[in-house]
Amino acid sequence: MPILDAHALEFFSRSPEQTRRLGMRLGALLKPGDLVCLQGNLGAGKTTLVQGMAQGWGALDPVSSPTFVLVNAYRRPNAGQFFHFDAYRIDSPAEAEELDMDSLLDEGPLVVEWPERVNAILPPERLWAWLEYESEEHRALRFSAVGKRHQALLDMLRRELYGVN
Ligand SMILES: Nc1ncnc2c1ncn2[C@@H]1O[C@H](COP(=O)(O)OP(=O)(O)OP(=O)(O)O)[C@@H](O)[C@H]1O
Ligand SMILES: [Mg+2]
Repeated sequence: MPILDAHALEFFSRSPEQTRRLGMRLGALLKPGDLVCLQGNLGAGKTTLVQGMAQGWGALDPVSSPTFVLVNAYRRPNAGQFFHFDAYRIDSPAEAEELDMDSLLDEGPLVVEWPERVNAILPPERLWAWLEYESEEHRALRFSAVGKRHQALLDMLRRELYGVN
């Protein structure tokens, strides 16, 4: 766990529904160019958060962990795509080299599970979340931003959640 700066945001979830609702708040704010990295152990709640994010963004397609492809694309009625990249099965960033993150980000927001496995091919500016198992239904989520744009995103999320800066 990194040392948190004043700009970081912490959230404590007491149920999968609460994690999904947090995801919905975040997802509603996402635009093309936004990169959200979700780091946490198996079962920490990454995909649960993505389900909320895609729903909040407006996706009609159900979220599932990408199995046969590395990246799932979810659509919504008034166009746009929401990309979901699960790097769990990737052993080296070279295996995902053919994925052009910048062109995905031109088209829509991108969320990455197991981002630490592909850090070398991810753009440097991102919103990073650490999800931690506390007990059966409890999870701690910590967000930190790199770059102005993602800092602004985190500030918007904080205002949404707590109504303050
Ligand atoms: N507060 C909570 N937030 C999120 N999930 C929770 C919470 N409490 C219990 N859970 C359960 O934990 C599991 C989280 O699974 P999920 O697939 O979201 O994890 P993951 O981090 O994506 O794991 P993986 O690394 O296998 O992809 C689900 O079964 C969910 O119901
Ligand atoms: Mg998952």
